[in-house]
Amino acid sequence: MEKKEQFDFRGMSFYQIWIRSFCDGNGDGIGDLTGVYNKLDYIKDLGVDGIWFSPIFPSPNADYGYDISDYKDIHPDYGTLDDFRRVLDKAHKLGLKVLLDLVINHTSDEHPWFKESCKGKDNPYSDYYIWRDPIFKGERRLPPNNWFSQFEGLAWEYNENRGQYYLHVFARKQPDLNMDNPKVREEVKSIMRFWLDMGVDGFREDVITYISKDKRLPDGIPFIPAINGLKFYNEGPNLHNFLSEFRAVALEYGAVQIGEAPNTSVSGALKYIAGPDRVLDMMIQFDTMMADCFMADYIHLPFSLRRLKRAFTCWQYGLGENAWNALYLENHDHPRVLSRYGSEDYRRASGSMLAACFILQRGTPFIYQGQELGMTNIALDSIDKYNDVVSVYAYHHFHTHEPVEKRLRRIHISSRDSARTPMQWSAAENAGFSEYEPWFYVNPNYKTVNAEAEDKDPESILNFYRKCLQLRKSSETLLKGSYREYRRFSSRIYMYERAYEGEKILVICSFSKKEIGCRIPRAFYKGSGKTREASPAAEVILDNYSVAGMDEDDIDCTKKLRLMPYEVMVLRRKKEC
Ligand code: GLC
Ligand code: CA
Repeated sequence: MEKKEQFDFRGMSFYQIWIRSFCDGNGDGIGDLTGVYNKLDYIKDLGVDGIWFSPIFPSPNADYGYDISDYKDIHPDYGTLDDFRRVLDKAHKLGLKVLLDLVINHTSDEHPWFKESCKGKDNPYSDYYIWRDPIFKGERRLPPNNWFSQFEGLAWEYNENRGQYYLHVFARKQPDLNMDNPKVREEVKSIMRFWLDMGVDGFREDVITYISKDKRLPDGIPFIPAINGLKFYNEGPNLHNFLSEFRAVALEYGAVQIGEAPNTSVSGALKYIAGPDRVLDMMIQFDTMMADCFMADYIHLPFSLRRLKRAFTCWQYGLGENAWNALYLENHDHPRVLSRYGSEDYRRASGSMLAACFILQRGTPFIYQGQELGMTNIALDSIDKYNDVVSVYAYHHFHTHEPVEKRLRRIHISSRDSARTPMQWSAAENAGFSEYEPWFYVNPNYKTVNAEAEDKDPESILNFYRKCLQLRKSSETLLKGSYREYRRFSSRIYMYERAYEGEKILVICSFSKKEIGCRIPRAFYKGSGKTREASPAAEVILDNYSVAGMDEDDIDCTKKLRLMPYEVMVLRRKKEC
């Protein structure tokens, strides 16, 4: 089969849509494709080059779209296939690529394949899932091994009809597919072709590094909850083979593939994303999501800038020239980054600093809806108001001896629902998201934090995102340059340099609530030439404390800069003539 050339995903940036909370186009309180259609110009104006849609397919919503009951249709809440074609067409006319979420580690238990599979051991779908006989200890019926699911309790659920257990690494309603069955892989390819034939440009591939299980399904480490079986399904024995099969399909269309890999490492990722024979183009790693938690958001720790910097730099150096980074600080699976790594007391400064901090690294940035407005976490007053299966399970099963307020606080700082509140379009009722009561709670700060107000304010977070994306796009150094970190041990400053063909750009990010001093590398201050005579200082090309920009006199020739709370300053030193 012929291969089509891939588009230049390295020069691009993407916007992630979690459709249910993005924009309601038909007044029923639920975001939909008409809403997306109406906001495509907004997305284009932000300066991104494409959209990644979290799942928009029929789903009982046990895990909000990540439990799919039909891979080749649109959820009726969101519209029809024709509505999707209309969005795709307009996006393409605007020059925006469109990526869909390919969720093939598991389906919904309401998918017809699973319903058939449950009927018995001798039907065509019987082997589509991972079924095993129980183990009997005397009269006691036990699951085939001791694995926990990552979302709720044990990883096995008993089915009376088959007299067997099925595996679910995530929620009970998300049975894992048996990818070792060639028929399942053919289904995956057929799903890919269905959307690629329609004109979709690629996929973000959900927990793709989990799709190959060690067939022996051995017991995991007994006392570790949630991930004790990980060793036997993360980057499993046939993963590379399976991904190569899917890659062949993608390449026929020139489609781009971004894998999600919750527990990968640089060396793990490089096996899949390096070189021309790579089977994925980028990997979504989780290390940069763990600067204020241990393994999962629920196990909270105080934010550590040094942990964040180690993660950034480990991936920047680790992938280097061999592979390409997917850059992100937010998505639908984590609380809002401003509330985590920034400061709600310094909303504008920290929200904009965080933008430059990741967008100007080497890689392709992904921006999650509302991140560009500096949306923050929500704190609901009862667990009954939360939807996220992870939060609800954690609340009812962990720390149950603690007072309710304390347990709720744990949910406030960790829940995925904070990223799933309706998008704040304006100060109008329901934040301009819908004319009808929205399906989920609107963050009460929408009167000040909203797209309409920020659009008009030249110093808003929204306009700073636009500037960052524009700057990245216009600079070969930022698109192609190398990365080097400075001041590695500072717990207040993150500083890195991008260099390309003699030009250097320095990004200085303060994570401090106080005004602080900061030394910069020699190449950027006055008099840096060999003769030490006063050569001009680098120019400031971006700063979140000044719209007009500064002139070179603001850069102190004594090498020290003053930084305001959460200030970010970007300096450029042009190639010496
Ligand atoms: C991915 C998705 C997340 C989902 C999980 C199981 O991590 O991003 O939302 O819950 O996979 O599908
Ligand atoms: Ca709607």
